[in-house]
Amino acid sequence: MKPVLSPKSGPLSGQIRVPGDKSISHRALMFGAMALGTTRVTGLLEGEDVLCTAAAMRSLGAEVEREEDGTWVVTGRGVGGFSEPTGVLDMGNSGTAARLLMGVLATQSFTTFMTGDASLCSRPMERVMKPLRPIGVNFVSRSKGRMPVAIQGTDEPMPITYELPVASAQVKSAVMLAGLNAPGKTIVIEPNPSRDHTEKMLTHFGADVVVEENETGGRVITLTGQPELMARDVVVPTDPSSAAFPVVAALITPGSNITVEAVGMNPLRTGLFTTLKEMGGKITELNKRVEAGEEVADLQVEYSELTGVRVPASRAPSMIDEYPVLAVAASFANGTTHMEGLEELRVKESDRLAVVVESLKACGVDVIEGEDFMTVNGNGQPALGGGEIKSRLDHRIAMSFIVFGMASEQPVTIDDGSPIDTSFPGFIDLMNGLGASIR
Ligand code: S3P
Repeated sequence: MKPVLSPKSGPLSGQIRVPGDKSISHRALMFGAMALGTTRVTGLLEGEDVLCTAAAMRSLGAEVEREEDGTWVVTGRGVGGFSEPTGVLDMGNSGTAARLLMGVLATQSFTTFMTGDASLCSRPMERVMKPLRPIGVNFVSRSKGRMPVAIQGTDEPMPITYELPVASAQVKSAVMLAGLNAPGKTIVIEPNPSRDHTEKMLTHFGADVVVEENETGGRVITLTGQPELMARDVVVPTDPSSAAFPVVAALITPGSNITVEAVGMNPLRTGLFTTLKEMGGKITELNKRVEAGEEVADLQVEYSELTGVRVPASRAPSMIDEYPVLAVAASFANGTTHMEGLEELRVKESDRLAVVVESLKACGVDVIEGEDFMTVNGNGQPALGGGEIKSRLDHRIAMSFIVFGMASEQPVTIDDGSPIDTSFPGFIDLMNGLGASIR
């Protein structure tokens, strides 16, 4: 346990760069390990979640090395070329790593055992196992579809068509990755588009992926199985979900003016920035450009008097990891911020809806929790703070309430800041470099 104290900060200023995108980093290692040849990855997030994926790829027979300059070099085994690991794969805290790998391993003809930390072992895996079973894989899990799990992959995979009941890039990706090693066409239909990094990066590695919009605004993704994936270099953009923390900190800390460089601006990831701008947040996108196939921009952010807004449920997939820090911004805004369509928050690294509400209350905020919504009433004044927050193995809860303490009247304490390393190593030093006094 690493307790953290976050007292009121002076104005934030300076130019920073946040670490690489977590979603893209996992995929770069996995797809590199399934490609023929050597893939070089720059800008990889060296957070604990991604290091679990690197270790899993090694256990499956790929070569994964870090060079001195920070480039990661992956020599792959080809689609269907992995070998049976001798030990148990430990996916740590990472739902993305566990769920995507279940898809990959469903169509490898051997048995894999997989586990994770207490948070991961409490998260629902049936959402991934259910669509994968018709492909031919057998899963043996703890009751209610919880990990640890044994994955008995099939050597006679069937391609499937699956319509997602929840907007989930992880479920979509698991089905696509299983389909990679199945003959014929695997089709995934998503009613409300979620992040499309798997589609983009598989195409980059040479797979045949066709994405079509349907009449209701959803997407139909068709993947042709058993391609030869070829090694490709990957440049990982920085993570908008990590940029979210300094951006909100600057918006709510009086006198602040910061620039966050080269933030990934994939339109399926930027719902938070749209919402903060609607609230009156002064966020200016500078130097918009495309780097290695992903849109990026430098974000200049100034302290702003925020106003409450209604955030539609349709926006949830594009900001699903950002609601905890949005709720913090809403606590410093004037008026009511109503967020709906939040049912997925209940199955993240923690039950983020319950934990955010409980933590905001501990900091003196007027907040209402519904089954799938949250309403935060701000009065435009600095919130009280003073809460003692339990981070519950959830990196985004820890960082959100550190940001809260930077602008509230009284300091906020976090019982354990160590989960931050899963996605944002160096977070506290970076924020202190901008002018915070977190310790
Ligand atoms: C992710 C998808 C999202 C997100 C997670 C990363 C991904 O999860 O919350 O942090 O990389 O595909 P769901 O797909 O379960 O919504």
